[in-house]
Amino acid sequence: MKVKVAQASTIVEGKNSCVKLQDRKILLIRHKGKIHALENRCPHVGLPLEKGKVEDGVITCPWHGSSFDVATGANKDWVNSLLGMSVPKWTAKMITLGKSPQPVRTYAVEIQGDDVMVELD
Ligand code: FES
Repeated sequence: MKVKVAQASTIVEGKNSCVKLQDRKILLIRHKGKIHALENRCPHVGLPLEKGKVEDGVITCPWHGSSFDVATGANKDWVNSLLGMSVPKWTAKMITLGKSPQPVRTYAVEIQGDDVMVELD
């Protein structure tokens, strides 16, 4: 099921946008002109990703530093900091809470005119 979630012209490079849809929060990120949709929920402990910094197509979670490819959701790095401050490896290991690296969920995006359509299951 495709659902309109935003106007494409309002999704700008360098500014993450979060839309709430029923019980989901979807993060829209424009990178190199293309709009990507991710679940606004870090797979580490479920905190929101929307304040994360995006660089070279990778978003970094602002809470504990895990990072994800905005196009595929693939995990690039897993828990390495606390609120932007680096922590020693043993501390990072404790912060993982025993969770293994996981990808963030992504959604297929289609642009129709100025409408951003997201494929929901
Ligand atoms: S909630 Fe994102 S890395 Fe911990």
